[in-house]
Amino acid sequence: MNYKNDFPMLSNDIVYFDNAATSLKPMSVINKEIEYLSMYSANMKRGDYDIAFKVEDEVNKCREEIREYINAEDKNEIVFTSGATMGLNMIVFGYFKNHLKKGDEVILNKGEHASNILPWMILRKEIGIVIKYAQLDCNGFLSLDSIKKEITANTRVVSLSHITNVIGDVRDISSISSYLHGKGILFVVDASQSIAHTKVDVTLNDIDFLVFSFHKMLGSTGSGCLYGKYSLLKEMMPTIYGGGMNIDFNEEEISLMPIPYRFEAGTINIASIISFREAIKYVNKVGLNNIMITEKHLRDYLIRELSKIPYIDILNKEATSSIVLINIKGIDSSKLGLYLNSKKICTRSGVHCVKMLKDEVSFDDSVRISLYFYNTYEEIDRLIDALKEYDNIINF
Ligand code: ALA
Repeated sequence: MNYKNDFPMLSNDIVYFDNAATSLKPMSVINKEIEYLSMYSANMKRGDYDIAFKVEDEVNKCREEIREYINAEDKNEIVFTSGATMGLNMIVFGYFKNHLKKGDEVILNKGEHASNILPWMILRKEIGIVIKYAQLDCNGFLSLDSIKKEITANTRVVSLSHITNVIGDVRDISSISSYLHGKGILFVVDASQSIAHTKVDVTLNDIDFLVFSFHKMLGSTGSGCLYGKYSLLKEMMPTIYGGGMNIDFNEEEISLMPIPYRFEAGTINIASIISFREAIKYVNKVGLNNIMITEKHLRDYLIRELSKIPYIDILNKEATSSIVLINIKGIDSSKLGLYLNSKKICTRSGVHCVKMLKDEVSFDDSVRISLYFYNTYEEIDRLIDALKEYDNIINF
């Protein structure tokens, strides 16, 4: 299938292989934002007039669409955030800060993005929790066995990515969840890298909290979702206070709006939220199964072609997601990234916000090629041709 008509960016003469950072946006998403901004650009829950009611209705429809997409039980379990980072901070400081005490243990791992480590480090400073890192194997993968080794009577929560943004390993969240819940341990999942690529089912996998950003799944930047089981959201405190999240307040007391509105202070990113419904519709139209099959074929082809170039190190050959990491010995990843940029090929280089991964794997930085369903074999050929120009790379 040719997606060029749907994605205006695909008509530029570039090869876009930085989908793990953000995806491209289809016209249906762009048009929905234009429609809102030009035809009914009112605020919601404030004005007593028709276009304000329409905005509220559109936002509610998006909440329902997300509920269905991740199979949550209740649309009030869907909280709009500015993205996965904000969601993780809300979970740590709105829920765990009030439910953990000194000595309680949280299990993370060094393959996590900064947003799933730094908030916990601050909480450690504030209340004295203990952070443990489950060891990764030689491929940088995390197994349930490695999590089990860190569990003690004090373990309260495990927080991890479903798919990691560097190694691109897919974690077995179903087995991890059932093991943890057998021991009464809570389970937080960062679905930023999986939501657009594979089925994420919070009910089937019995997930306690889950976050993702809309812009990694065809949506625009500045919005995302925090899912929490209703029983947990009832126990979570807002971390941001202001308009829209309170029913009333006086000099002493604040009475909070019902869930989820108490967690959505200020004016939320209406344009981005409303248009995300179109993003979900687009993904459903293409079909998650088709997306997975297409990505697998592209990845297999990319690995096969890369393997033919003797000086290319493929750093995550065993991973199964659409992320492929490469290096060329003796060449800095940012230099390689800039060289590819000179060929109009967009990748990401460096450590990708995962600064402790180097403690557990044999490389530090890398060039990350991250694919999505609209990428093509021809684009991969263009990358391979560029990478074959060894002299041009070293002299760049
Ligand atoms: N977390 C995003 C990435 O991995 C920005 O590139």
